[in-house]
Amino acid sequence: MVPVSIAIDGPAGAGKSTVAKLVAKRLNLMYVDTGAMYRAVAYLCVKDGVDGRVERAVRELLDTHKITFEQGADNGLRVFVDGVEVTARLRDPEVSALVSTVATHPAVRSQLTDWQRDFAARHSVVMDGRDIGTVVLPNATVKVFLTAAPEERARRRQQEYHQMGYEVAFDDIVRSVIERDKKDSERALAPLREAEDAVRIDSTDKPIEYVVDEIVQLVENAHVR
Ligand code: DC
Repeated sequence: MVPVSIAIDGPAGAGKSTVAKLVAKRLNLMYVDTGAMYRAVAYLCVKDGVDGRVERAVRELLDTHKITFEQGADNGLRVFVDGVEVTARLRDPEVSALVSTVATHPAVRSQLTDWQRDFAARHSVVMDGRDIGTVVLPNATVKVFLTAAPEERARRRQQEYHQMGYEVAFDDIVRSVIERDKKDSERALAPLREAEDAVRIDSTDKPIEYVVDEIVQLVENAHVR
């Protein structure tokens, strides 16, 4: 049977990973957080002191280290570098600050896109990211473009930081959210863009469960289950 694939794209903080995990749970599919894969590459740059702006140096890291992924108990993606789990480090501020730079490199994107396609060919998945519906899985069963107002996305990020023990000023987060959207949308390769056949959902004032129901309904309407 051809695996089912649900692509959820959108800007940082729109609620993609929370929604994608819940959809995966409801439909018994695997959840793949592609942002965590890009974060793993940024983490390696920080760890090894590599300049993330230099494409060849970043690409070399992918050859010299083994990055592997595993499904976690809460349905999240666990990430390992050379066998050591680094999941908890992927949202460190240094990693967050560097990730959109490493994500601009074609050599990095092509390797990560291959891993993502290979995974989706073997499993039914809910995959979230920026270019899943447009580039990685253009034939996805259902494509969703999930958005929310920048202030709401910054508020959610601030809460996440708070839970991790970091206190970051709200205005700084709004600024960094807007800056990252701009970088992700303006890069030459696989920019953040809504696929023509995606369903746009704005999560600003919607409870998460409502968004999840809407996506489950879209999948059911696609007559794939
Ligand atoms: O979703 P996130 O915040 O964990 O994503 C981290 C960064 O990775 C973000 O700046 C954009 C980039 N990214 C990407 O370019 N393509 C993807 N499919 C997923 C994430």
